[in-house]
Amino acid sequence: MKNPGITIWKDAEALSIAAAHFFVAECHRCIAKKGKFVVALSGGNTPKRLYQLLGSPDFNCNIPWDNVFLFWSDERFVLHTDADSNYRMVKENLLNYISIPEKNIFATPVNGTAKDCAKEYEQTIHTFFGKKIVFDSVLLGLGNDGHTASLFPGTTIVKEKKKLVKEVWAEEKKTWRISFTLPLINRAAQIIFLVAGKEKAAVVASVINHKKINPAFPSQLVKPEKGTICWMLDEEAAANI
Ligand code: 6PG
Repeated sequence: MKNPGITIWKDAEALSIAAAHFFVAECHRCIAKKGKFVVALSGGNTPKRLYQLLGSPDFNCNIPWDNVFLFWSDERFVLHTDADSNYRMVKENLLNYISIPEKNIFATPVNGTAKDCAKEYEQTIHTFFGKKIVFDSVLLGLGNDGHTASLFPGTTIVKEKKKLVKEVWAEEKKTWRISFTLPLINRAAQIIFLVAGKEKAAVVASVINHKKINPAFPSQLVKPEKGTICWMLDEEAAANI
């Protein structure tokens, strides 16, 4: 029996279908409980298929988008029309296919300096939530170097204890990013890691098996204060756990 909170699916397609069903279930549970579902979407390639499924007729018709509020757990600091933009990726794979009110979409601002945009996004989150800032779900991916969101190893954002959103220079990518910090991620009611592919097997095992690494991978510092972590993996990514 694998550890609770870890589900393993045959391949990336099965993983994405499972994640789509999970999204629908969580969405209805939260809306039944408090009238809305507030989710932070992750970027990168892995969640693309999930977003396509959520925008497809079978899932789309089962999601009350009027009660769903979308944020981004991190964003590349490029225009929303740029090929690298996580907003553009979600727009092309999901937003273009659903009727969600514009007012429910909280894209990360990218006009101005990265620092000012991070501050603006944090203010947006404070204004949206008020006192109790708790995302119902935060979707996260996992990089081979143990990063998640834009919490890259060795960057100051990993040590951030107060701010909820911060700018971070991604040296390898030679670009600024804007990311949720650990204090914000760890407040979430539910954190979902969506990871696929054999190239992730080693890092998945290190994180799930709490391998002692110094300094720890940023993804090992994702520890929800009151919420839960769900790992949704394909067989390749789960090969070493
Ligand atoms: C991003 C993501 C990043 C991503 C991982 C995994 O903006 O790229 O937030 O943290 O989730 O790098 O990326 P893949 O899903 O492309 O492997």
